[in-house]
Amino acid sequence: MKISIIGTGYVGAVTGACLADLGNTIIFVGRNKAKLKLIKSGKSPIFEPGLEQLLIKNEKRIATTTDLSDAVSKTDVTLICVGTPSKADGSIDLQQINDVSVAIGKSLVESEKKHTIIMKSTVLPGTTEQLVIPILERESGKKAIEGFGIASNPEFLKEGSAIEDFFHTDRVIIGVNDQETENLMKKIYSPLNAPVFSTNIRTSEMIKYVSNAFLATKISFANEIGNLCKRMDIDSFEVFEGVGLDARISPHFFRSGIGFGGSCFPKDVRALISHARNLGLEPKVLNAVIRTNEEQPAKMIELLKHHMNITGKTIGVLGLAFKPDSDDVRESRAIPIIKLLLEQGATVIAFDPVATENFRPHFPDIYYAKTAEEVLDTDAILIVTEWKEFENLDFRGKVIVDGRRIGKARKEANVYEGVCW
Ligand code: UDX
Repeated sequence: MKISIIGTGYVGAVTGACLADLGNTIIFVGRNKAKLKLIKSGKSPIFEPGLEQLLIKNEKRIATTTDLSDAVSKTDVTLICVGTPSKADGSIDLQQINDVSVAIGKSLVESEKKHTIIMKSTVLPGTTEQLVIPILERESGKKAIEGFGIASNPEFLKEGSAIEDFFHTDRVIIGVNDQETENLMKKIYSPLNAPVFSTNIRTSEMIKYVSNAFLATKISFANEIGNLCKRMDIDSFEVFEGVGLDARISPHFFRSGIGFGGSCFPKDVRALISHARNLGLEPKVLNAVIRTNEEQPAKMIELLKHHMNITGKTIGVLGLAFKPDSDDVRESRAIPIIKLLLEQGATVIAFDPVATENFRPHFPDIYYAKTAEEVLDTDAILIVTEWKEFENLDFRGKVIVDGRRIGKARKEANVYEGVCW
């Protein structure tokens, strides 16, 4: 199938490369010519393990363009993979969705063959039907279903393992309001041999939000229990290893520590809270998930202060990315942690294997080390991202506060505090 991918961020780049690997012809559509040039030359525009290899392997099936209309006219299907960031008040920003829907609609005016638009961006339930379809109908002069196909198809890709998550997904969620589009969607994903859950469009949109909100809830629950365990000298990881043996619970996403960051959990939970409020509901559990998450980074500073007065000290920060195997620093827990350290009068030396340049604008005046070893030569070290390479460092004689559980640090440090263990 010929597929246009609108948006070349984490979701668009990975989805397009993986669909190309399934044999589809892909046209990446974007506004950033430099990014498109990278993709065309087989270079990944983002740090995502395995993506470059896929782009190179499938380069004959991959094209790039800034001309959305041309891409739509040359393809059967268009996937919308643009960002839906948070506004200042936590509500969802649909500007990119709006603009892309207008452009796609305009592109459909002349098309004879039926085109299908698939919403892969994370949008609140009702968005495709109440915002996107009316724009497409207005701009194209065609009616949804008979004039163009429309579907919701949320992604469940974790940064750092996105390609694995695509090819070995637990399920494909499709939200459709007609059989023809359902058949087309099933055809696209049939090579994955994954369970397909088919429902209507708004339910599909809700499944995405509830999935992310529940995973975030698991993490905040693990952190609340972890804080309790810390006061009882109990290792929360062992608690959740035992708890997770219950098939109803599962052991996944109970890694307590300094909380969740990234471009999804914080934004999606906030958007759901804002949406609930608009519907007259105050979501108490989701509010607590956010509040617990926001309070968690300070636990590191509290623990450090049990061992030293921070003012005037030089503190090392190991890890700046929101998670390992990623260069993404959006809502990284390093941001509130470094802010707190600077407020307490500390000097900060930070290191990350790949995320430093993305992080630097947040704190341009701190020192960014070239190696992790440099960070060890400080009064104390905070472990903020669990990069595998940190397991090779020499922590002997060091003062460590560990927010992400690096086993070797726990074994070797002179003074060691785990946030929740
Ligand atoms: C998440 C969802 O997992 C994915 O399904 C969705 O499509 C996008 O959002 P992502 O944010 O890329 O993926 O990474 P994830 O591995 O989920 O980690 C998110 C944050 O939670 C990170 O800051 C991570 O450190 C933290 N986390 C994760 C925990 O603190 N504990 C855990 O047990 C798991």
